Amino acid sequence: MISLSPKPALRGAGSFRVLDLKPRVEEFVVAALAGLAACPKAIAPKFFYDKRGSDFFNRICETPEYYVTRTELRMLDDFGPEIAALTGPAASVVEFGCGSPDKIRRLLAALDAPADYVAIDISYDQLVASAEEIAIENPDLNVSAICADFSAGFTLPPELCDGDGRRLAFFPGSTIGNQMPEEAEDFLQLVRGVVGAGGALLIGVDLKKDEAILNRAYNDSAGETAGFNLNLLHRMRDELGADLDPDAFAHRAFYNKTLGRIEMHLVSNDAQQVRLNGHKFAFAAGETIHTECSYKYELDEFADLAKRAGFAVRRSWTDPGHLFSIHFLEA
Ligand code: TRP
Repeated sequence: MISLSPKPALRGAGSFRVLDLKPRVEEFVVAALAGLAACPKAIAPKFFYDKRGSDFFNRICETPEYYVTRTELRMLDDFGPEIAALTGPAASVVEFGCGSPDKIRRLLAALDAPADYVAIDISYDQLVASAEEIAIENPDLNVSAICADFSAGFTLPPELCDGDGRRLAFFPGSTIGNQMPEEAEDFLQLVRGVVGAGGALLIGVDLKKDEAILNRAYNDSAGETAGFNLNLLHRMRDELGADLDPDAFAHRAFYNKTLGRIEMHLVSNDAQQVRLNGHKFAFAAGETIHTECSYKYELDEFADLAKRAGFAVRRSWTDPGHLFSIHFLEA
């Protein structure tokens, strides 16, 4: 099912197209039932993001403890000219998953006359809204929004990237850290296929660091991360009709040093039972639902991962506090 809709209303030489590949979205109720039945219990982080969850997430990004977003934005500004020089003119930029347009906006502003911008995301409304914003701000850029699930495999329609420059994939936010290392390698391999020979990937990766800094970042004092995590239970109650009390659970996030990752859990305060769709799920006091991982990588650990996926590190940058890294990888 391909619907390409041109949008002629824009000024300048650019264009805006929407390609809806109609990704099959895993149903929340199916995932919740399977996750509660699993041992240990676990529900995938993609279910955090309804409107309320996205609002919590935007507020997390502004908490003083969560250094990730502001550090990466600052680095994109600081290293923009070097990124532009490495990329070369007339690039076709492909963004995998697009949240807030702040980061791509900075990258496009830094690059030398980028030709195309392709945004790929599974959630249609946010994707089209933010890609359209970029198209309006950049009248000479060819902008395409592709609604697709790239985790299920993905090939880029070549007509969307017909600039003379190289293909540059963009994957900010240390979202790579929310995948298990094996999945992360598979994903990088997929990106390698999309950018092709001569292509590149600009990727933001959170660094291993003092555990106290990590633990604070995922336990902000305003409680935004807790609200974000607990929102999953609100969604189960309000949307799925689950019989549960979100207040009977608590947010827990901690750095697992052995595995090099932050783990987020929802902890059952007491022994209790949750009911969903006629099924009963027993919780022991202190038992958890694992909701997210956020892997942290040393520079050389990430370089090894990239290499296994067919990329070589051309350049890595860190901020002065050595909190975060951005890598320019070449296929
Ligand atoms: N990928 C980022 C990280 O792992 C952002 C993120 C995803 C996040 N889920 C989160 C941040 C939950 C805080 C809490 O840091």
